[in-house]
Amino acid sequence: MKLKEAAVEIRPPQTLDECHDRDALLALSLREEPFPFPISKEYPLVLNPSDTSKSFCVFYDGKIIAHANLFHRECAITHYEHDRSGIKLSLIGNVATHPDWRAKGIMRALFEYLEISALKCDSSALILWSDLNSFYDKLGFVPWGKEIRYDLSREKIAKCLIPNNYHFSAKADLNILSDLLYRRCEIPTIRRSAREFAELLKIPWTDFRMLKNTSNGTLSYGVMGKGADMGGVIHEWGAENELDFLALLASFFSHNNTKKLTLLCPGILDEKWRIFFNGLNTQENVYPMCLLKILQKTHKETLEKLFVWGLDGI
Ligand SMILES: CC(C)(COP(=O)(O)OP(=O)(O)OC[C@H]1O[C@@H](n2cnc3c(N)ncnc32)[C@H](O)[C@@H]1OP(=O)(O)O)[C@@H](O)C(=O)NCCC(=O)NCCS
Repeated sequence: MKLKEAAVEIRPPQTLDECHDRDALLALSLREEPFPFPISKEYPLVLNPSDTSKSFCVFYDGKIIAHANLFHRECAITHYEHDRSGIKLSLIGNVATHPDWRAKGIMRALFEYLEISALKCDSSALILWSDLNSFYDKLGFVPWGKEIRYDLSREKIAKCLIPNNYHFSAKADLNILSDLLYRRCEIPTIRRSAREFAELLKIPWTDFRMLKNTSNGTLSYGVMGKGADMGGVIHEWGAENELDFLALLASFFSHNNTKKLTLLCPGILDEKWRIFFNGLNTQENVYPMCLLKILQKTHKETLEKLFVWGLDGI
């Protein structure tokens, strides 16, 4: 089919029916099998039908034929107010063109539209996650940053001596969630409010575990899985010390009937954590953190250290 330009429109969905059609296109293009929850539940911050401002559909003759999310975020060094970096970033996700309309330049045109929107918001870079490097390479994206994946084995964790002075919880109020954000490694990352954190933890198949050390009150936490993604992967974590974190890993193993788990870490990792993980005799694999397109060179140096935790990816 040939496109008549006058019949093309790019805008957010405006009705529940349009949101439903968008979600059907995303499920068709991005999910090989049906899941027991709609895709919108997996991305509560960008596919929420009551706020469609981050969702961009290509309409042709009134029908949705392609979609991508654009989510403007801010980079923080830590989460303390004075550590705001002032760097704005735009995340892209849920990229799909309807099978009948592929290879006609539609996604290229949508990306041009998103890039202009991001520049208007003073964004320094576009970021996304995908294995489709050859496609994104054509649109100017390059593999960026560094993440370390450690393979953890139940057997090795079971051999460690872990004290039993820990209290487990899978629930946290906004004050605690806000506190947990500071337990993560200090590295440039996406700023996230406690309220957003609470929304993200409602994603189906997300295992949130928090431990309190009853001797000294320190908190540690981890998050494994996230909707259809990252099963068996602890993609976010924070702890004050190595022993608390070891107890947390043991808790993930005791709750999941698996011999192996993967732990995601920032590529630039504190020496104490590197020594700790190497002490567990784990396999260390290094990968690019994301695909990125620089829009403004001013913050390139900070962006080279950027690490985005799993819950923030779209
Ligand atoms: C990937 C996808 C979004 C491309 O959409 P599209 O509208 O067909 O893309 P375009 O026609 O705008 O293609 C732009 C360029 O990328 C190339 N391209 C398209 N699909 C490609 C692919 N799978 N691999 C490599 N290059 C690809 C095109 O040839 C074109 O190159 P050119 O401009 O040099 O001719 C679409 O195939 C799709 O929805 N796939 C299934 C869902 C998916 O994989 N989404 C991305 C997950 S992160």
